Amino acid sequence: MSDITPEIAFIGGGNMASALIGGLVQSGRVPATILVIEPDDRQRARLALQFGVLALPFGGSSLAGLPLVVWAVKPQSFAVAARNSVPHVAQALHLSVMAGIRTDTLAAATGSARVVRAMPNTPALIGQGIAGLYATAAVTGADRALVEQVLAPSGELLWVYHERDLDAVTALSGSGPAYVFYFIEAMIQAAGEMGLSVEQGRRLALATFAGSTALARQSNDSPAVLRERVTSKGGTTYAALMAMDNDAVKSAFVRALHAARERARQLGDEFGASPDAGGNGASAAPGPAPLPQIPSPRANGSRGRP
Ligand SMILES: NC(=O)c1ccc[n+]([C@@H]2O[C@H](COP(=O)([O-])OP(=O)(O)OC[C@H]3O[C@@H](n4cnc5c(N)ncnc54)[C@H](OP(=O)(O)O)[C@@H]3O)[C@@H](O)[C@H]2O)c1
Repeated sequence: MSDITPEIAFIGGGNMASALIGGLVQSGRVPATILVIEPDDRQRARLALQFGVLALPFGGSSLAGLPLVVWAVKPQSFAVAARNSVPHVAQALHLSVMAGIRTDTLAAATGSARVVRAMPNTPALIGQGIAGLYATAAVTGADRALVEQVLAPSGELLWVYHERDLDAVTALSGSGPAYVFYFIEAMIQAAGEMGLSVEQGRRLALATFAGSTALARQSNDSPAVLRERVTSKGGTTYAALMAMDNDAVKSAFVRALHAARERARQLGDEFGASPDAGGNGASAAPGPAPLPQIPSPRANGSRGRP
């Protein structure tokens, strides 16, 4: 019997929790210091087998005294999950990756003022995400360092200073992977219309996105300068960009991001307005799209179900 005591509890052991746990274990954290509360028998067995963590069906008193609690259930499940755990976690630092549940709601439900909200995105599943982070005033420097330790293996971190900025983070990077996939889809469609195969279109589109973002990251020049450098007047790129300008693609895209930010704000209002944080008012609101099931040795969150 191990005498190592858990130091981090994950409430919810689904895709996002698996991605974070996988990163933590791979970065050297002792699995026995991680406790996962997960009601699904098969998922608990999978977590224990894959990562060697302790997985229990209910929180209750097993959560007492743990320094960090990570909330990784769907927002709609938060109220029930919180009810089972709350009497034991008021002294803990709370890190939430749940979309739309604000820190005042989390603080009221957990009894702890030390709350950090994170907005991750799906590339976290392969360690290449970026998460926006917001901390309440009661969160200490040591708390922030602990949160960074937990999230850093899943990708980059960006602290914001106003909670409302997390709605913008949601619009930019939280929902962002879907925009990238949308443009990749369009490139594959165009490839097909021009006589290339789907696979050829896919390879060309993916390599172009990967190469261009890597170039933009390494360069000191702005994206606008990089774009101008590959756009000679009267050339092919110029023809494409003129066609996009004629269709007002950029302003439509910017409007789309504003729509996403507004929806994030509304969802926050709906969850906050619900008396039991995720109860009736919240359940009507659609949560973020489920994470894709990406098999990966370090972050395999596959549940074997749709
Ligand atoms: N912006 C983004 O791209 C993004 C990305 C990742 C995550 N997120 C956020 O991360 C959170 C988790 O998402 P996910 O995709 O990991 O969801 P998920 O795969 O459905 O995982 C949630 C897990 O929590 C379990 N659960 C349900 N009720 C519970 C309870 N009372 N106590 C303990 N565990 C409970 C669920 O079990 P059952 O299936 O048996 O109900 C499930 O295994 C969500 O709040 C989501 O908003 C956002």
